[in-house]
Amino acid sequence: METTIIITGAGKGIGRAIALDFSKAAKERKEFKPILILVSRTASDLDTVAAKCRANGAIVETARMDIANKSETDRLVENTINQYGTIDCLINNAGVGRFKLLNELNEEDFDYTMSTNLRGTFFLTQKVFAVMEKKRSGHIFFITSIAAETAFKSSALYCMSKFAQKGLVETMRLYARECNVRITNVMPGAVYTPMWGELPDEMKAVMMQPEEISSALLNAYFLPGRTSVEELVIRPVGGDINE
Ligand SMILES: NC(=O)c1ccc[n+]([C@@H]2O[C@H](COP(=O)([O-])OP(=O)(O)OC[C@H]3O[C@@H](n4cnc5c(N)ncnc54)[C@H](OP(=O)(O)O)[C@@H]3O)[C@@H](O)[C@H]2O)c1
Repeated sequence: METTIIITGAGKGIGRAIALDFSKAAKERKEFKPILILVSRTASDLDTVAAKCRANGAIVETARMDIANKSETDRLVENTINQYGTIDCLINNAGVGRFKLLNELNEEDFDYTMSTNLRGTFFLTQKVFAVMEKKRSGHIFFITSIAAETAFKSSALYCMSKFAQKGLVETMRLYARECNVRITNVMPGAVYTPMWGELPDEMKAVMMQPEEISSALLNAYFLPGRTSVEELVIRPVGGDINE
């Protein structure tokens, strides 16, 4: 049966790994026929990931947009419904961070962080949830962070946005439990992705890889529909590496 999955931030890092793993699952599970809707702001990234996913047998659409733009995300949901009939899974992965000390953060950092992590995530979730609520099935993942419940000095805005995302996750679950929709909060510690920029080798050596997060997410997804993995806390074995 076809399964329609929207993945935000699918061009790089964790979102890219999730897209690739869902496409590989199409090879391994003959009953699983994913339609992947890949979203990010950079068309060239999306094209590269889409080509790899198609080579694994997935049907893929790409949607270049800033998720903070509500009219674009509304259109994305409407187009997906018109073309594929429904949405079965939403991966709220797109996220940004400006990592600076408290007194260095400015208004632009504030608006940039909140527009993606909060505004974009909220309105897309609201629109997709209405579809799932009506059909009484679906799965929404939020890639929040351990920074959704742990403070870091260089991450005031990032932590603020991620704690707020956790508030949304927990509120959504109150609605979702009433209509058979699964909500999973994925809280990774440090994962080596483009979000971090250049890093010394000794730091890279202790960080997790994006595939380790996507693998845990797919395991949660493929459990029977009666079972909901509500939280996944995934850390480097040595714990948090950023104070
Ligand atoms: N890496 C970590 O250590 C870590 C740990 C815990 C949680 N997380 C969370 O995991 C998620 C993914 O992080 P990552 O490390 O994979 O980051 P990344 O490597 O920077 O990738 C983020 C992806 O999101 C896209 N994106 C960002 N803002 C967007 C927007 N407004 N609209 C559409 N697409 C947008 C980016 O593409 P464009 O820039 O081209 O749009 C990119 O494809 C984030 O929510 C992050 O907070 C990361």
